Amino acid sequence: MSAPQSLPERLPAIALDGVSRTYASGTDVVHALAEVDLYVARGEALAVTGPSGSGKTTLLNLVSGLDRPTDGTINVLGTHVDGAAERELAEFRAHHLGLVFQDPHLLSGLTALENLVAARLPWGRWRELQVEARALLVELGLGDRLDAPPSRLSGGERQRVGLARALMGSPELLLADEPTGNLDAATTEGLIAVLEAVRRDHDLTIVLATHDPAVAAFADRVVHLAGGRIDGEQRLDRAGPLETRALE
Ligand SMILES: Nc1ncnc2c1ncn2[C@@H]1O[C@H](COP(=O)(O)OP(=O)(O)OP(=O)(O)O)[C@@H](O)[C@H]1O
Ligand SMILES: [Mg+2]
Repeated sequence: MSAPQSLPERLPAIALDGVSRTYASGTDVVHALAEVDLYVARGEALAVTGPSGSGKTTLLNLVSGLDRPTDGTINVLGTHVDGAAERELAEFRAHHLGLVFQDPHLLSGLTALENLVAARLPWGRWRELQVEARALLVELGLGDRLDAPPSRLSGGERQRVGLARALMGSPELLLADEPTGNLDAATTEGLIAVLEAVRRDHDLTIVLATHDPAVAAFADRVVHLAGGRIDGEQRLDRAGPLETRALE
């Protein structure tokens, strides 16, 4: 008889069960997310699309534990994110999650390399972090930009520095919120190519929110949010007719 698979391996990377997030807005209640069930397998790349205000950022913030659900349970990499204490969540994010945003908000007084090191200083030693940061920047094609301050980097380069920073500490899960939102089409294509390489080489699970069908096409699967609800879950065939789907 073969040995049973260890439980953590069989768990999905992300499991949302009946997750809602409401905000009180004056006398109104805003349903940012409503009764969302969502499972993301380990190693999967999922794109979350939907119009502005449909709940994409809310979903990512709940998965990372930056926000708490009003209802439902959230399990990420075996951690009950919705029930964890703030301190535990900070540790969890630092060791398991990489976060990428539309604007990487790099520190202007530091070089690209220093930006990566500074972000990880609470969790490592300068010298070792420097080695890790250098290797990541080289891997992402920024080997000749290590000492450049953000003001001397292009938008695409800054976003790659942001991605490299998110990969410090070898996270298993990368959450990206409109990572190409400020980039033109050609630069977006470059960043997606880098993401594809990074996904392969770092064995990552990825959840990426985007308005851009070209970016969503990078994923194995797309879920579309509308009014805080998942509009139907479907596989995305890369060769398939993306334009038939109502993507923004
Ligand atoms: N802190 C908050 N207080 C009140 N309402 C909020 C808050 N954060 C989000 N909302 C509301 O929740 C809904 C979902 O917002 P969310 O930011 O998740 O949308 P989104 O899909 O990320 O939009 P975008 O594409 O513009 O980034 C919106 O109606 C928004 O106004
Ligand atoms: Mg958003």
